[in-house]
Amino acid sequence: MKVFLDTADLEEIRALYDIYPLDGVTTNPTILAAEKKAPYETLTEIRSFLGQEGVLHVQVISRNAEDMIEEAYQICNRLGSNTYVKIPVVPEGLKAIRFLAKNGMRVTATGIYTLQQAFWAGKSGAAYVAPYVNRIENLGADGIQTVCDIQNCFVRNGIATGILAASFKNIRQVMALAENGVASVTVAPAILRGMLENASVDLAVDRFINDFENAFGVSATMSTIAAVLEGE
Ligand code: G3P
Repeated sequence: MKVFLDTADLEEIRALYDIYPLDGVTTNPTILAAEKKAPYETLTEIRSFLGQEGVLHVQVISRNAEDMIEEAYQICNRLGSNTYVKIPVVPEGLKAIRFLAKNGMRVTATGIYTLQQAFWAGKSGAAYVAPYVNRIENLGADGIQTVCDIQNCFVRNGIATGILAASFKNIRQVMALAENGVASVTVAPAILRGMLENASVDLAVDRFINDFENAFGVSATMSTIAAVLEGE
């Protein structure tokens, strides 16, 4: 499963790329607004961190198809060819998705709460669909099952569109998709950090080191460790 980072906070992006093997960055207008500077300034910094090969997803803001299409070209011109343009699956968005996909642009169909939105986006040529797992669950439906239904529907209908599941409240939701072989997810920094936060693990690691230090009467540094291991 590919894992993207759902943030525009460059410090978080740097720190988490340092730890995890990540596959790209996704943003949306809410995420960009949180940075409190010109969105293209933020996005250009992210692009320069990722390099031209890195994958970046950026959402249009317009409401009608014609403007969405113009925005999509501007986004790719400004941010390079490895930029996926996110377009919400509403009637105007679907028109824009179909036009852009036909013209070779990689589109991520976003704002997906239902199987039928995903189906039409896939049939219109979107590269990815982005179902919103937790927002679906907040409506009383089953977000995990919706993503699995989309996956199944694409396989059975020969739709080549990938799934990039978004909107997670907890690690369980993310890992349930990994178990089901969903192709990709995008997760907020807090969820990603939480993946390796475990007091029991920290305690176990501390105990290993403390036992070593107490037994050999040294504080563990590379030179003392090497000497003790050699029996010096
Ligand atoms: O871009 C979609 C995703 O970021 C939504 O996440 O947490 O706002 O539901 P959330």
